[in-house]
Formats: sequence, C-alpha cells, structure tokens
Amino acid sequence: MAKDKTIFTCTECGGTSPRWLGKCPACGAWNTLIEQVAEAGPGKNRLSAPQGYAGLAHAQPVMPLAAIEAQDVARTPSSIDELDRVLGGGIVEGGVVLIGGDPGIGKSTLLLQAMDALQRAGLPTLYVTGEESGAQVALRSRRLGIEGSQVKLLAEIQLEKILATVEATQPAVVVIDSIQTTYSDQLTSAPGSVAQVRECAAHLTRMAKGTGIAVILVGHVTKEGALAGPRVLEHMVDTVLYFEGDTHSQFRLVRAIKNRFGAVNEIGVFAMTEKGLKGVSNPSAIFLSQHSEPVPGSCVMVTLEGTRPMLVEIQALVDSGGPSPRRLSVGLDKDRLAMLLAVLHRHAGVACMDQDVFVNAVGGVRISEPAADLAVMLSITSSLRGKPLPKGFIAFGEVGLAGEVRPAPRGQERLKEAAKLGFSVAVVPKANAPKKPIEGLTIHAVERVEEAMDVVRGL
Ligand code: TYD
Ligand code: MG
Repeated sequence: MAKDKTIFTCTECGGTSPRWLGKCPACGAWNTLIEQVAEAGPGKNRLSAPQGYAGLAHAQPVMPLAAIEAQDVARTPSSIDELDRVLGGGIVEGGVVLIGGDPGIGKSTLLLQAMDALQRAGLPTLYVTGEESGAQVALRSRRLGIEGSQVKLLAEIQLEKILATVEATQPAVVVIDSIQTTYSDQLTSAPGSVAQVRECAAHLTRMAKGTGIAVILVGHVTKEGALAGPRVLEHMVDTVLYFEGDTHSQFRLVRAIKNRFGAVNEIGVFAMTEKGLKGVSNPSAIFLSQHSEPVPGSCVMVTLEGTRPMLVEIQALVDSGGPSPRRLSVGLDKDRLAMLLAVLHRHAGVACMDQDVFVNAVGGVRISEPAADLAVMLSITSSLRGKPLPKGFIAFGEVGLAGEVRPAPRGQERLKEAAKLGFSVAVVPKANAPKKPIEGLTIHAVERVEEAMDVVRGL
C-alpha cells in the first residue's frame, strides 16, 4: 500500500515543514513540530482563490435553528448502574468516550465487564487489546466469572488493521485498550507519541461519527496524574471519564470530567473485589476512617460532586519542620492549601510558618470543590493544638481571602446526609443554615473563619 505523505505541523502557529525541525521555520518556537498525515494534500482543505468559495456553497444547507428537529441521543444502558450514571444513562450511538486512570486501577476490568453486559443485552461488541495478549484477557474473564462471554476479542495495535476488522465485524461498541499502544503505519513516529495518539484518536473518532459505532478509548495518565498525550484528545472525544482512588484501598471512583451527553462531575463508585468491580450504590460513608474515639487532625466534610452527597474525612498533620517547611496535600489542591494557611494566619491568628503541614483526603478520593476549605482549616488547627474535634462533628464551606465563609451549593442536602449517618454537630456557612431544624443535628452557622474557630473552641 502506498503511504500517504506526512508533513510536520507546528502546534503553535500551524506552520508546516516537509521534515522534522527542532525550531518552527514560521514562528521560531522550539519543539512544536509534530508529524501528521498529509492525506488532504497541500491546499485541498483551504479555500484557494481561483476555485472561489462558490464551489463549497452547496455542501450543507443553511437552516434556521428553529427548523432543525432536535433528536434525543439513543443510549444503551450497560446495566452497570454506576457506569451508566457517569455516562449520563448509557453508551451513546457514535459517541466517543475516553477513560483514563493510573495503571492497575481497573480500567480494563471495568470495560471487560461492561462489554460482556452489553453483549448479553444483544449489542455486538469488539474489545481490542493492545496491552495484553488474548490469553491474559481470557484469564481475567475467568476471574470475573464471564469465561463463556461472547465478547469479540482482537489483539492488535495497528490502526489500519483495527479499522478493517471493525468494518468487517460491524460491532456496535468498540473498546481500544489503549490508545497509547495503537499506531498508524502512515506515521513514522513511535506508538504513544503525541502525533500517533492524535492521529489514531482522530481516525477512530471520525469512524465513530461516520458509522454510529460507539468507541471507548482507554488512555494512560502521566506521573502528574493528567491524561497522557495531547490535550486535543480531550477536545476530540464526547466524554472524558477519570478513574480515581487509591489502588491499595478497595474503593474506586469514576468521575465524568467532560460529557456532551450528560452531567459533568457525576461520580460512579465501585469496590474492587475478587470478582471484579462491583457498584456501590450507597457510597456516602466509604471515605471515613473508623476511629473509635476522635483523634486530633481529623475533620469530616460533606462533599457533593455529582448528585450524591458523600462524607469524606480530611486529615491533617502539623509537625515542626526545618528551615523551609513542607506543605503537602493528597487529594486536595496544593495551591489552595497554601492560601488557606495564609488566611488561617491572617484572620484567625493560627500560625504554621515553621511547621510542616500535610493534608490528606481519606481513601484516595480527590476533592476539587472549595467547600472543603473549612474542614481543611479545622483539621489543621486541631492537629496543631493536639485537640480532637468533638465526636460526630462535620464542617463544610468555602473560605475567601478576606476570611469570609461562603456557602456551598445544596447545603441542605449535605446536612441531611450527615444527620442520616448519625453526625450530631455541624459548622456551616450562614447561608447554608436550614430554616427548619434537622433532627439530631446541632448546627452552628458562621460568617467568618475566626467565628468558626471560636465555635469549635467552645464545643
Ligand atoms: P486492570 O483492570 O488490569 O487495571 P488497568 O487496566 O486500569 O491497568 O486492574 C487490575 C487490578 O485489579 C489488578 O491489580 C488486580 C485487580 N483485580 C481484582 O482485584 N479483582 C479482579 O477480579 C480483577 C479482574 C482484577
Ligand atoms: Mg489495562
């Protein structure tokens, strides 16, 4: 087969070069040229003057928005409830999903389970494995108790062969495990390189849109925890799901970071068991560590990312540090921690300047909402003073640079969930205090950080 010509395009200015150069000849930026297939041929995608614009005018009719009929997307539930929840109801025809996460967290396991369920529901599926051999996948299926599965398996990494197989077998859903191992022989760069990942994902996306086949791409993450490969990958796909959680703990979260067909920040919760991932339908208390008596440096908060409130324990350890004390956070934003320490010092007189400060959200969960601020501050103060917060205590609320405590969205729901789980004392932003009392819960509404500190001191 004759190879299409490749060209090198600058990611900064779009300039091209027939060969790789360290420096873009057009804009002078370094290391920005990446390889691309020049299928279209130079100028073919551009509007050239002699041809004029008229030749393109009939490509698609222009219509007023009101004349276009809205179509509901057709979804097929995977029958794995927690996965359907993050997908926004199920697998969408022609939809492209990118699912990322640390190695060993359970991406392949979840997808094999999902494919088996879809196959049973009558949807033809194809699982393309580039990371493991067919025998290894078979071994996993035995572990999952689905060894009799009719899911079609293809151990292949070359894009052209994968696309040919898809065309020949006509599945409704294809899993590519993973996009980093897939390569196109049109490009000379190595599999996993930015150029390859981008080109392969673009081809697969085009195939999905053209045929209505749903495509699920497994993506690697970098050491920093971001999805590996070009950022453009996230723009190309319809849905980005991200696996979170500590591989040493049993629980795993799947979070929707982007979803053209559903809500973002929806969370699916799973437990890794001997027989694969099992959905946890009532996850509100799984991120609490079980202390029989309260310990210093621990504060429970109610987070509400997605539709379900969850109680998460925030732990802090403040310990005398060296000349340049460390600030470390796991599961919480590091810059935000530095900011909260400054607010704590300035507005509540709590100084940690010469102390190491470590903060951790229990269970490997990642909390991105600022409603964690108050709990972070209270756990730090509790650790610094060596004084535990009272039993059954929760707190939430965003803290601003001026020391004000701002409300968290849907505060009532959070408080009700805490009460349901037996929590008895809450410190919350004033605007979140309910009008009617919640049974079993004493609520202290605060407007400022120093007020929150006073309330806690008096408990
Ligand atoms: P895997 O799905 O291979 O992870 P990824 O594709 O994200 O790299 O997950 C494998 C891990 O899960 C491995 O450490 C073993 C564990 N596991 C179980 O605990 N129970 C099971 O039933 C299976 C299949 C895997
Ligand atoms: Mg895998």
